[in-house]
Amino acid sequence: MASEMKEFLEKAVELAKEAGQFQRSRLWTPLTIEHKGVIDIVTEVDRGSEDIIVGGLAQAFPGHDFLAEENLYQDRGATHKWIIDPLDGTTNFAHGFPWFAVSIALEVNGEVVLGVIYHTMMDEMFTAVKGEGAWVNGSRIAVSPRAPLCSTLLATGFPYDNATDPENNFSHFVNFQMSARGIRRAGAAALDLAYVAAGRLDGFWECKLKPWDVAAGQLLVSEAGGRVTGFEGKPYSVYNHRIVASNGLIHEEMLEMLTKPAPFQAICGQVDP
Ligand code: IPD
Ligand code: CA
Ligand code: CA
Repeated sequence: MASEMKEFLEKAVELAKEAGQFQRSRLWTPLTIEHKGVIDIVTEVDRGSEDIIVGGLAQAFPGHDFLAEENLYQDRGATHKWIIDPLDGTTNFAHGFPWFAVSIALEVNGEVVLGVIYHTMMDEMFTAVKGEGAWVNGSRIAVSPRAPLCSTLLATGFPYDNATDPENNFSHFVNFQMSARGIRRAGAAALDLAYVAAGRLDGFWECKLKPWDVAAGQLLVSEAGGRVTGFEGKPYSVYNHRIVASNGLIHEEMLEMLTKPAPFQAICGQVDP
């Protein structure tokens, strides 16, 4: 790996751990909760985590730009842009449900080349650098060999405005629930993607996600040998708000399922584990 990329990776890992340590220290303690929307909330731990990460990166790499969830940063047209979700899984965190992560990605000239996801409560550091594979705590990871769709475990999520906007993923959820072995809605998209990369989940889809939810995770899945596209199967950009990420083997089946009106009754025989 080029020494500059190694320096970026080491700094991102260091700051993800620091933010994670802060999150662990504040889990199950009283929190100040503000509303961004009816059910969309933010805590001082989201903001504090972002300050740790953006502060540390800006100090180390003063010429770089930032796109992060909790603040607007000046776009200076830099070639290097960090894309950060300081705490993915805020609803979980605020309720004391210990499933959340830090997600940090680096885009260079419009292409995501580095991704770090720190699973705070499991102390697992997922990392990927373009062309260098995907790793967890230093061990190489790969997507699962599982297929067809009816033998798989999938993940998804729902947008915060699901009560008011018909693009709420409900019909897709019903269709996949009848066609796969199971679906998890664990509440942290970055971890859903890291788990697809590690072969612990076989596929993931969601709509209305933001670049900071997916930037690191989609690189992890690609570098772990998986496939990432939009709902139409076209090449994926982190600015596309619909994502399908899979082990590759079930990708076409997933895309096909996303075209079905609800409810779609899959016909599936028994498949060995
Ligand atoms: C949310 C989580 C969740 C997904 C939401 C995201 P946040 O991010 O990733 O799993 O379903 O759409 O907005 O708000 O916890 O950072
Ligand atoms: Ca998020
Ligand atoms: Ca967040």
